[in-house]
Amino acid sequence: NKQVGGLIVMFGAAGDLARRKLYPSLFRLYQRQLLSENFALLGNSRREWSDDYFREIVLDSISDQKADETTVNNFIQHFFYVSHDATKAEDYDNLKTSMDKLAEEFNTGGKNLYYLSTAPSIFPDITKGLKDAGIVTDGGTHRVILEKPFGTDLASAGELNKALEISFDEKDIYRIDHYLGKEMVQNILTTRYFNPVVEAMLNSQYVSNIQITLAEDMPVGTRGGYYDKSGAIRDMFQNHILQVATLLGMELPENLDQDAVHASKLAFMKEIASFTPEQTDKQMVRAQYTASSDGEFINYLDENEVAKDSVTETYLAGYFQVNNDRWGNVPFYFKTGKALAVKHTTVEIILNEKVNEADIAKPCNPDQTRITFSIQPETGIAFHLNQKLPGEALAPNLVTVNSDVDELIAAYVPDAYEKLIYDALIGDQTNFSTWNELAEQWRIVDSIIENWKDDGITSLPTYEGKSRGPKEADELLRQNGHCWVQ
Ligand code: BG6
Repeated sequence: NKQVGGLIVMFGAAGDLARRKLYPSLFRLYQRQLLSENFALLGNSRREWSDDYFREIVLDSISDQKADETTVNNFIQHFFYVSHDATKAEDYDNLKTSMDKLAEEFNTGGKNLYYLSTAPSIFPDITKGLKDAGIVTDGGTHRVILEKPFGTDLASAGELNKALEISFDEKDIYRIDHYLGKEMVQNILTTRYFNPVVEAMLNSQYVSNIQITLAEDMPVGTRGGYYDKSGAIRDMFQNHILQVATLLGMELPENLDQDAVHASKLAFMKEIASFTPEQTDKQMVRAQYTASSDGEFINYLDENEVAKDSVTETYLAGYFQVNNDRWGNVPFYFKTGKALAVKHTTVEIILNEKVNEADIAKPCNPDQTRITFSIQPETGIAFHLNQKLPGEALAPNLVTVNSDVDELIAAYVPDAYEKLIYDALIGDQTNFSTWNELAEQWRIVDSIIENWKDDGITSLPTYEGKSRGPKEADELLRQNGHCWVQ
């Protein structure tokens, strides 16, 4: 991998994401010598900070990294700060002066990356301010990275996109879905592309159903205000689940170039039909957590900034079907929730079984032949196949054949943000969401939310904190003769 430099302008430099993820990621890139000496970071926020104070903040954010003192000292020399109100035109002149100075001092070669790690409501002010002040010009490269949420529905996402397009070309807009930066999510495409034998199995002849699980073991915590307006559908389904499902469900691209990958993804998303009221009713389960029995988690409805009569779902399970030649009516099941017993993210491809007469009457058997992509916290791919047990009759027994991806990548597993920031610096958009993809994602989500608005529900089913989730999610699969394997 080649070294990159450039000027990173960090909006929201004092924020939680920057401290928790972005500075540590930049540091690791620097440590691994992927970030060259020709990089500088200009942080800004409304706070009146000095460069030195900002550097203390950055140092604090990397304090738990293993590193020698010289590397840390050299790294921190690349950080600068300017106080900035994103809504004030005159502040952009100031910003420009600081940027010009750093571009010269660090010889950044006209490469600029604007990282918008702020409240989305000020994205339009920032992009307009950058353009009006003559900061984003035709000279040099000007890329922008945006954090989610990208709108709250198709209409608001469209407005936001229009505002962006006034200042940036689509090829320079990097919309983050951090799941696309995860090693094992990326490995779904690699596995399909480079193993024709696996690819040959991914269709309705061999696959019974697909199960995508994004389970979380933490409640909403301090994010009640944001979460109560979003729910699991906007927080996890609209972005992460639909992107992961697409990597698995799409036709293989002709090659692995970004345009080919995005074309395949878009074609698949277009095939996911909007939900009718009947489908929403039958194919979606929503629920809210209640306190955990050990008292650690409180009821969702008692969380800070959550409305007492909220019908926002903290758990969502459901499925869609893509009725094309490959998938016939194979259900793509998904489930995600907060405050569950364990954190785990998996993609299970449940294979059709050769059914023994004796098994037909059995209730749903979770020991199914399948391919598992474990995304986190464990990483790896496993085949669960029927095998004969030594010394016993010719009867099938489920045996797991595990590829030790953990061992394969034990040397170094980059964090999702580390990969994505590097990709944006080198100009690779493969693992970012295009506007067209996002528009399809919102179309699907909007159809479900519209149906929910009309159903007059005043409360949701509940599940106990630290449990597996609501029983309704098991029922959802049982009615199709399936069951969750996780
Ligand atoms: C974010 C959501 O996009 O993803 C959070 O806003 C969620 O609510 C997080 O906790 C999960 O990410 P990860 O990488 O911890 O699985």
